[in-house]
Amino acid sequence: MRIGILNSGGDCPGLNAVIHGVVGAATELGWEVIGFRDGFEGLLPNGPGHIKLDVDRTVGILKLGGTILGTTNKGNFAAKIGVDNVALVPVEIMDQAKATIKYLGIEALIIVGGDGSLTTALQLCNEGVPAVGVPKTIDNDLQATAMTFGFDSAVATVVDALDRLHTTADSHQRVMVVEVMGRHAGWIALWGGIGGGADIVLLPEIKFNIDNVARQVNHLYATGHRSVLIVVAEGAELEDGSLMTREQMDAERRQVKLGGIGEYVGRKVEQLTGKETRDVRLGHLQRGGSPTPLDRILGTRFGVKAVNLIREKKFGRMVSYQSYHVGDVSIEEAVNQLRLVQPDSEVVQAARSVGISFGDR
Ligand code: F6P
Repeated sequence: MRIGILNSGGDCPGLNAVIHGVVGAATELGWEVIGFRDGFEGLLPNGPGHIKLDVDRTVGILKLGGTILGTTNKGNFAAKIGVDNVALVPVEIMDQAKATIKYLGIEALIIVGGDGSLTTALQLCNEGVPAVGVPKTIDNDLQATAMTFGFDSAVATVVDALDRLHTTADSHQRVMVVEVMGRHAGWIALWGGIGGGADIVLLPEIKFNIDNVARQVNHLYATGHRSVLIVVAEGAELEDGSLMTREQMDAERRQVKLGGIGEYVGRKVEQLTGKETRDVRLGHLQRGGSPTPLDRILGTRFGVKAVNLIREKKFGRMVSYQSYHVGDVSIEEAVNQLRLVQPDSEVVQAARSVGISFGDR
């Protein structure tokens, strides 16, 4: 038996743990594993190609950030324009990919990716390629899985940054605004904010008003705080519903590059309160570096489960984590279903109970 694996979309800590898990479990079964480079592009005849993955090739990768296979969130297989807009991968590209799979004698393909990549995986499945999916998103925003690897590492980076910023903010009695990742969902901001002791957390899911934010900053100083920490998700909306973007639409990838909301919030807060304010954008620091133990373990379990799904011939299924158990769901049901922060959820209430403001009141 020979199987293939590729990871597609933005990287995140834990991808190598998945590869490590797949190779370990496949080797146990006496199977061969081929890894395609740079996402689906590795399936194209003139693309970046593939490598044989065995225990020797994957020893020691569990703890490494990034992915030894390389990845891309653009190229010939981009399947999404925004959230709901699905663009089918052109027939000639699909045909080339299928020909490579056939030529190499790949009997099943593991596709590790987020919503867009899983949409392409579904198209491949629908065209007869036996494939299984492994969910990957640092934003942790897939409805069909309670958690994805990479998220915990990102939260750890945010918490570490907040701990560091807290001491310098306290020294100078400053407001510090930290912009974190989170395109549609504010999980990184929410968890990072709670874990790092933020005072104000601004999310895509809870509309904030900058006057409320300024009022809360003034209130905190008036009640004895020496500093104020604000965490804002890159996808938090301005009052008119618009997003802060760094560039126009990325034509190849078909989505805007977000960024700048932290700077905006910092500027406005300084204007409205007179308090000295600094802003920091954590950006890709959240995607880099070694995975946390949780992400190594989750990635390993996801990789092993993917091999087991193939063994059981459960094609068209995606690995899913629910209630501490790694199970599976259909890819078809998993795509296009974002898991957003619910404004009235227990975790938001808990944050409010410890004094975190969301700028909505
Ligand atoms: O979707 C994951 C994500 O990390 C988003 O939070 C962020 O907007 C985007 O990817 C950044 O992508 P890129 O690596 O192309 O800048």
